[in-house]
Amino acid sequence: MRTPFIAGNWKMNMTVSEASDFAEELLKLNLKEGVEAAICAPFIDLPVLVEKFKETDVKIGAQNVYYEQNGAFTGEISALMLQNLGIDYVIAGHSERRELFGESDSDVNKKVHAVIEAGMVPIICVGETEKERESGEHEVKVARQIKAALEGIKAEAADELVIAYEPIWAIGTGKSATSDDANKMCRLIRSEIEKLYNAETAEHVRILYGGSVKPATIEDLMSKSDVDGALVGGASLKTEDYTALISGAAQ
Ligand code: PGA
Repeated sequence: MRTPFIAGNWKMNMTVSEASDFAEELLKLNLKEGVEAAICAPFIDLPVLVEKFKETDVKIGAQNVYYEQNGAFTGEISALMLQNLGIDYVIAGHSERRELFGESDSDVNKKVHAVIEAGMVPIICVGETEKERESGEHEVKVARQIKAALEGIKAEAADELVIAYEPIWAIGTGKSATSDDANKMCRLIRSEIEKLYNAETAEHVRILYGGSVKPATIEDLMSKSDVDGALVGGASLKTEDYTALISGAAQ
């Protein structure tokens, strides 16, 4: 059985004091058990979040990483630095990084290696554009992204992976994929994992849907066989919504 997973992706939101207030508020609320909860925050918010949630089961994630260990890479943060801080998850290849910052499949693969080597778990994002969906290329594109991201990753490490299927046209648009379409793509990703590794690994990998997920839609999504959770942007910024997502995923 795969543990349901709700990961918030704050993107470039929340100052350190706002992150601290969010944590204080969340600590007063009861999070439903049986769901793993994570918050992927801007780098500068990470120390305060790690500190605030250290006695809890809430996991903290970063939204990006650079693949070199250290050195002359002005402005970058390494996997070693994140691991040393006590970070659990690192998002790799979010579509905003691919589209706005020119991250390639090969960059994503190097980041996935760096994260795993540092003992953390990557949340690998894949997904198609609206044009690719309309022209029926979405399955080929997503399968290619999966294969490229996992190049050289061994089955033992792949077992713990988290993959997020995030159709680009659904991110931040309020236009979510239907739960059936989301499930179909999550199932496709699982079958790609089976081809790359084996049936057991494919059974263990957690596959999330992301793109305009709201408390009102989470239960329907989670009722689908291959959707193991959600990567949530906008609706993860308020503690009421975030806790509602976790409760919905626990149903
Ligand atoms: P959204 O973002 O929930 O605001 O659509 C999801 C994501 O980009 O991870």
